[in-house]
Amino acid sequence: KRLVLIGPPGSGKGTQSPIIKDEYCLCHLATGDMLRAAVAAKTPLGIKAKEAMDKGELVSDDLVVGIIDEAVKKPSCQKGFILDGFPRTVVQAEKLDNMLEKQGTKIDKVLNFAIDDSILEERITGRWIHPSSGRSYHTKFAPPKVPGVDDVTGEPLIQRKDDTAEVLKSRLEAFHKQTEPVIGYYAKKGIIAQLHAEKAPKDVTAEVQTALS
Ligand code: AP5
Ligand code: ZN
Repeated sequence: KRLVLIGPPGSGKGTQSPIIKDEYCLCHLATGDMLRAAVAAKTPLGIKAKEAMDKGELVSDDLVVGIIDEAVKKPSCQKGFILDGFPRTVVQAEKLDNMLEKQGTKIDKVLNFAIDDSILEERITGRWIHPSSGRSYHTKFAPPKVPGVDDVTGEPLIQRKDDTAEVLKSRLEAFHKQTEPVIGYYAKKGIIAQLHAEKAPKDVTAEVQTALS
């Protein structure tokens, strides 16, 4: 399967992805995670992306299309993939279609993590992540066994620099202006599945399974 996950910050894309990935043996391609790794490693890509990310704005289409173009060609992604956080503009969606057309494939399903903006601040400001694995926790909704520590590795958890109420406002603005039109783009193709992303994680997982069955 070749899947796209669309939804605002904190809607649960990163929480559901590992579950879908394991169930269908797909590779999980999260542009946000890849960009954060590039920023941490101070690569040329990271240096270019950092300023926009810190402000909660989108990184340029060319930069993200470049990373996805490389990633979808990897042998490990030939059986299928989950795109988490990409495409986020109509230009990115069109470039993705062209890329896949050259490989003789296409997107099978787009999961729309629909949710009201008012719920997202609590989710975003309570999130803690384990940077090297991408695992995320929430102080109230998904607490780690030991506060501030990853359950699996025992390594420290951190908060994302853009996970503040202030930066969230810009991220939501970018979502409504630039990413919502992408939902219309895929709706025309008839491949959108609507999720009720405000539900509890396990209920969202059940909706995902129904959408993909
Ligand atoms: P990115 O990393 O993609 O961030 P985002 O889209 O803002 O999404 P989040 O990761 O914040 O939300 P999520 O839906 O994954 O939520 P999660 O499951 O963790 O992008 C970051 C930046 O990179 C962008 O601002 C941009 O600058 C740049 N970028 C990335 N891709 C780009 C692109 N294609 N083009 C241009 N620029 C790009 O859940 C959040 C919290 O809630 C967690 O604590 C979790 O435990 C909890 N939670 C999850 N589900 C539930 C539930 N059902 N009930 C209760 N709590 C829940
Ligand atoms: Zn995420």
